[in-house]
Amino acid sequence: MEVIIADRPENVLADIITDVVRSGPATLGLATGSSPVATYRELIRRHTDEGLSFADVRAVLLDEYVGLGPDHPQSYARFIREHLTDAIDIAEVYSPEGLSRDPDAAAASYDELIGKVGPVDVQILGIGANGHIGFNEPTSSLSSRTRVKTLTEQTRADNARFFDDRAEVPYHVITQGLGTIGEARRLALVATGVGKAAAVAAAVEGPLSAMCPASVLQWHRTATVIVDEAAASRLT
Ligand code: F6R
Repeated sequence: MEVIIADRPENVLADIITDVVRSGPATLGLATGSSPVATYRELIRRHTDEGLSFADVRAVLLDEYVGLGPDHPQSYARFIREHLTDAIDIAEVYSPEGLSRDPDAAAASYDELIGKVGPVDVQILGIGANGHIGFNEPTSSLSSRTRVKTLTEQTRADNARFFDDRAEVPYHVITQGLGTIGEARRLALVATGVGKAAAVAAAVEGPLSAMCPASVLQWHRTATVIVDEAAASRLT
């Protein structure tokens, strides 16, 4: 695992993605939430100002809330359109079907779809304060596939900032599993701010353990953790 401490983590991650996008047809794994937003802004800038084209790129999202459709303001499908994909010329974007009447079946068919459009060339990841990636909360099986998961109360509280009322935060999500995520050719986790420092230290220097799902990056052949000084502050 490579750890990069940078003043502008978004530029480091945007460089990794740019290299892959320039090298030919590619599949990107996209995370939502705050962590990758600055990177997405930089990619949009490169598209607009420098002609970086995503015409040969397909993307798969990591996760979606159960019960929210793609036009719901807080759905991740809509988030990614607003923060990235509407502003670039990307060929195709796939996300789990949050509104499915059978979320378990929707999760299984999404896993299958990733198998078909993959392997993912670069999977972008954020990290939860409790060490989750995707919505694989602590105790998630290290070999898990895409499935329905229940959010912890901490994650619901952390995500409440995106909703008008905490009660509106869904309890369930469809998330790529840790095994599914691990099939990407490269994992690139970005974290900023002191609030992520303990989770980053556990992921990078703690034991490989289901109690810190992000520690699966230790096991991956090509994993990069990109952090600012604050998020790196608990690394030894
Ligand atoms: C979002 C996702 C989550 C977030 C994590 C950190 O698609 O998979 O794992 O990356 O909850 O969220 P932020 O970046 O909002 O702190």
